[in-house]
Amino acid sequence: MAGPELMGRFPAGLALDTLPEPPTKPGNGHLQDWALRPLPLIEEGATRARAAGRGLFRLRLGLPAVVGFSPAWNRALLSDLPTFRSAGSFSRVVPYLSGGVILADAPGHAGRRRMVNPGFGRAHMVALQARTRAALPPLPPGEFDALAWADEAVLRLLNAAYFSGEFDHALLHAFLAPLRRPFPVPALPRPPLFWAVDRELRRLSHARLRAGGGDDLLALLAPLPGGLEEARVSLAAAHDTTTHALAYAVWHLAQHPQWHAPEHHPAVLKETLRLHPPGWMGSRRLGRDLVWEGVRLPRGALALYSPYLSGRDPALWDAPEQFHPERWAHKPPAWAYLPFGGGERLCLGMHLAQMLILDALAALPPLRAVRGDDTPVPGITLGPRGPLVVCRADGA
Ligand code: HEM
Repeated sequence: MAGPELMGRFPAGLALDTLPEPPTKPGNGHLQDWALRPLPLIEEGATRARAAGRGLFRLRLGLPAVVGFSPAWNRALLSDLPTFRSAGSFSRVVPYLSGGVILADAPGHAGRRRMVNPGFGRAHMVALQARTRAALPPLPPGEFDALAWADEAVLRLLNAAYFSGEFDHALLHAFLAPLRRPFPVPALPRPPLFWAVDRELRRLSHARLRAGGGDDLLALLAPLPGGLEEARVSLAAAHDTTTHALAYAVWHLAQHPQWHAPEHHPAVLKETLRLHPPGWMGSRRLGRDLVWEGVRLPRGALALYSPYLSGRDPALWDAPEQFHPERWAHKPPAWAYLPFGGGERLCLGMHLAQMLILDALAALPPLRAVRGDDTPVPGITLGPRGPLVVCRADGA
């Protein structure tokens, strides 16, 4: 499955160092740029790869690493779970994301997903919708920062969906806040905070068991083996991703008010996620040696895919840097648009995130962009530097 259209163009079994790479810094390879300016680094890598007729480049991150952005690479990485393994991915070093389905690998992963999927399926979203709609906070009067508003809104929406709004709000805020800070803050262990969250999860799940169930997400997860861990880990995966997508979507609507109507919002959200995918880079470790585009990729190497690079690849999209929701009148190229990943590991919360964001957009009055800095800042997730100051355009 190694990019058949490219295989014939390269002799099989070339060494890894024959792949194009962005410029290195003496002594640390790409580590410094990876830490300080990863987007220009990967954009330069992709430019050099394209110039060499390839869909793959290498990075020197202290261990062999490759970044691919072609649809063929995306399909292989997301479909061949025994080869592209999650157990050694970047999520392993972030305690928030180190557990549950996120780190489960084939063959156990599929079973875990089957177990947790029902709570997050489209049908169950309908059961949650009245509660999440009621939890959306009102807009502040006058000018306000759409990023700060989205942050608070998503906290309340997730509290409503997972816990019927019963989780201690300040604790939920304190739990999720470090995720937004630059590295290494999200990777630091925080035992007392995690114990407090687990205690709160146990308290709320006992209440549901005593009441004989319930229909919020915790009620569905709590009886499953490892269900409370799935709740904690998926909350961490949910918050910043959904906040950043909502903030960027509000900002785009304030700048392009002609798209602010419920029938256009699905295309606005897709275009927002193409340009600013919060999950900008996904990582795996190779579980075996692999020959790709004629190059030997060694077992244990980091294998990365990037919804950001694939979503902006000029070979796949017309005017890729432009915000053009009308492009969604047509299907995108297969395996080119991956804001929620794909295959068996497709984002567990995709339907939840889409429902929360589309409902929030539908409830917004006409808006006007006042001033802001929407430069994408990559951390664990990609988000706008902010603030994104908007105000009501209807005079209310
Ligand atoms: C706009 C919002 C969101 C975006 C852009 C997003 C993005 C992604 C992406 C790209 C992946 C695949 C990662 C990979 O393959 O390496 C993923 C997986 C995941 N997401 Fe989301 N996500 C969002 C919201 C949510 C929400 C609301 C939840 C809450 C349940 C969630 C929970 C998860 C989990 C648990 C996984 C791991 C699934 C697995 O490995 O089987 N995400 N997400």
